[in-house]
Amino acid sequence: MSNISNAEYPMSDFKKILVSEEEIKGIISRIANEINDNYAGKKLLICAILKGAFIFTSDLIRQIKIPLDVTFIKASSYGNGSVSVGDVKVIEFSDLNDYLSFDILVVDDILDTGNTLCSLKSFLKAKGFRNIEFCTLLDKPDRRESPIDVKYIGKKIENEFVVGYGLDFNEKYRSLPFIASLDEKMYK
Ligand code: IMP
Ligand code: MG
Repeated sequence: MSNISNAEYPMSDFKKILVSEEEIKGIISRIANEINDNYAGKKLLICAILKGAFIFTSDLIRQIKIPLDVTFIKASSYGNGSVSVGDVKVIEFSDLNDYLSFDILVVDDILDTGNTLCSLKSFLKAKGFRNIEFCTLLDKPDRRESPIDVKYIGKKIENEFVVGYGLDFNEKYRSLPFIASLDEKMYK
């Protein structure tokens, strides 16, 4: 625990490493195999939610052995309070209307309250997508407010704030190659 690879943050910023690089690799290969089986012969659009999912998505798609298109969206809730279902602002980086004949797999870093994905599902349904599935690297089930069926989940974790491998705290720590819980002194 004394030094960490390819990152400039001291180990004392973290409480614990929750998912190591090796474990992330294993999770990705398991999920990619399921996707390879489930989408064989289909037209697949991978839609990553920025920014948090960009590292997970780039590693995941390189293990998927079927043709696919990739796009990104940015989803943010209106205001700064809690989000209600359907109340999400979406920025599209491709015109999603061009992809209505595709099966869409939305990839996010972590499933927390579920509000974002729930709103996004309504948004994509209203647009006309018929086959919508979700994939998240992490899941904090204790925090759920909006029930959402996520087909591919990497790992369930306790209710702790985590960073690394795309996940940030005030835009820091995304570049860590592992996922760690942040020490409480960092946000108090
Ligand atoms: P929710 O499921 O709508 O509550 O929102 C999930 C989003 O909140 C994720 O896409 C992350 O951007 C962010 N988030 C939730 N928990 C964490 C965490 O522990 N660390 C970093 N970001 C988090
Ligand atoms: Mg996010």
